Amino acid sequence: MKSSTTDRTPLRAAVIGTGLLAQHLYSYSSQDDVEIVAVGSSNPQKLGIAAAEHFGVDGPEITIQETATVLDRPDIDVVLHAGPQDTVWDAFEQCAARGLDVLTTAGGYHRSEQLDRFAQEEHVVRLAERNGARLLGTGIFPGFTADVLPIALARLMPGPVNLTIRIISDIGPWSEKVLRKEIGVGGPLREAELDLFDYVKASARIIVDSISSARVQWTYRSDLLTSTELVSIGPVVVPPGNVAGFSLQAVAKLDESVVDVTWESSLGGAEAGGTIVASSLDHGFNITTRIAGTPAYPATAARLLNSVRPLRTLPPGLRQAFEVPLATVWADNSGHH
Ligand SMILES: NC(=O)c1ccc[n+]([C@@H]2O[C@H](COP(=O)([O-])OP(=O)(O)OC[C@H]3O[C@@H](n4cnc5c(N)ncnc54)[C@H](OP(=O)(O)O)[C@@H]3O)[C@@H](O)[C@H]2O)c1
Repeated sequence: MKSSTTDRTPLRAAVIGTGLLAQHLYSYSSQDDVEIVAVGSSNPQKLGIAAAEHFGVDGPEITIQETATVLDRPDIDVVLHAGPQDTVWDAFEQCAARGLDVLTTAGGYHRSEQLDRFAQEEHVVRLAERNGARLLGTGIFPGFTADVLPIALARLMPGPVNLTIRIISDIGPWSEKVLRKEIGVGGPLREAELDLFDYVKASARIIVDSISSARVQWTYRSDLLTSTELVSIGPVVVPPGNVAGFSLQAVAKLDESVVDVTWESSLGGAEAGGTIVASSLDHGFNITTRIAGTPAYPATAARLLNSVRPLRTLPPGLRQAFEVPLATVWADNSGHH
């Protein structure tokens, strides 16, 4: 088991995965707090290749090793998992067995109700608790557009506040697996049941928790959007009338305020862009903020790296993303209620 450090000696990190997200983690490796000293891969053809050459960016002089070799190194303080969602629990189990803290960029780990779906993995959580490892998924939803900025704006407004947050994203670059399996892009219109809805609900709840403890009445709406003409979304061809995107909305009515979070994704939307409208009923304030293109990959990598040090102050086991600061404004939240 590794002990927590209280000084600012950089923590020695291993990145697992060699995709686009791993590349962003690697190229940020000069961060004071986190020094990347190893990169692990599941692909034998990548072993022995210089990480900088593989990623095509500047970075430390290290070569790609087998994942198991990397995890067995005695000089690793923390593991940064940047692989697909369905490899997360394997990585968690391997790290828990070794008493290593691990953070993953794969989404869906933000609130307790989302963690319930992993109840079948309880043995991994117990293993982590026993061996002193912390397991955390960060992702960026909840993130800057959906949480941090709305919370900051709400704090600046006197009196009860209404917030309308509309996040627009471009579905075009998403992977074929997510497009087809998770959203049903290219297929016939059906009832929308999307896991992605968890992110919208989590964002709305984080904002509501931060501005009021009043009783909340929730309404939810989820729609699949259809194409009017033949379009190609990445590798998927979508005939007219078939699924081409989604619109998800969570609305909270509090005693005097309304928080409305909508996430729409379709072809050509601005990646992670959005509009936030904040109005104060008492004082006639009305602020409209438009955010264009906060790129998802750098933001996701930064969020994970910023979480490495705070994670070490939490008890071992499965942790939740809102236990580590989203940003300074979120860290200050503890004294708010
Ligand atoms: N907004 C957000 O929260 C956000 C944004 C971006 C990405 N993400 C998440 O971050 C993770 C990494 O993203 P990415 O775009 O870099 O993913 P990716 O390209 O699909 O996969 C990353 C790497 O995972 C490794 N891998 C291990 N087992 C694999 C398997 N069975 N199938 C495919 N790859 C496997 C591969 O590296 P090796 O060949 O070296 O093993 C691959 O290059 C994903 O879970 C993604 O959902 C989240």
